[in-house]
Amino acid sequence: MAILMCRPDHYGVEYEINPWMHVETEVDGSMALAQWQALYNAYSLLGERVELVDQQPGLPDMVFTANAAVVRGREAVLSRFRHPERQGEEPFWRNALERRGITVHRVPDEVAFEGAGDALFVGERLFCGHGFRTDLGSHALVSRLLDVEVVSLRLVDPRFYHLDTCFCPLNERTVLFAPAAFDAASQQLVRRLVPHVIEVPAEVAAGFACNAISLGDRVISSLAAERLEEPLHDAGFATVALPMSEFMKSGGGVRCLSLPLDGDGLAEAA
Ligand code: ARG
Repeated sequence: MAILMCRPDHYGVEYEINPWMHVETEVDGSMALAQWQALYNAYSLLGERVELVDQQPGLPDMVFTANAAVVRGREAVLSRFRHPERQGEEPFWRNALERRGITVHRVPDEVAFEGAGDALFVGERLFCGHGFRTDLGSHALVSRLLDVEVVSLRLVDPRFYHLDTCFCPLNERTVLFAPAAFDAASQQLVRRLVPHVIEVPAEVAAGFACNAISLGDRVISSLAAERLEEPLHDAGFATVALPMSEFMKSGGGVRCLSLPLDGDGLAEAA
């Protein structure tokens, strides 16, 4: 597997499209770069190949590669961003995926879909969020385009505006899950369909602890994940907790900065 990342060369909080973003907040650029580099280094140390996309000036949220698309093998569904502030990213993501040999599908312009930020596989099932950034109507399209079963989950707390802020697959049968972020029916669905659900309190999820990625038996996440060490350990995972303060100012953490590209030989096609 390779992980697609985008170095924060033109990163900042320049508009407000989620409750974490405040244009008056100062982002420390060198700290952002150091935090990003530490994540990059963690992936490299764990033997993951990181592939880079150049950040374009004027597209400060491009660092959040999770929102490029949802990828399955050599197929992807490109994001159609809800907010015009991010729509300018779309051609760059299409290009980044196509030059890696990935076939890129898209949803109609009027349907919002925000990629792996709102679409995460647990085994063969694709769990998709809706309610804030992604339209429910996109789920059936994504299901058809990727030929996968989709489970729709409704997000109800604006702090958890993308599924990857409150739900994280750790392996085929285990997820991190902040129930407070979902309506009652979605909570039931997760508990019924996923064999091992590790529940995360809302205040821990608000530190971007669920915005994590698991690689083998490691879970890489923000500092808030230190509070999940015990349940993670019991489930067989070691926690790697990294400072993410500068990206949390934009509503993002580890997972948002990372797009796993699955399948072999993708780099060679670039
Ligand atoms: N500022 C970005 C936005 O609101 C943050 C995106 C975070 N990405 C994610 N996958 N949750 O779009």
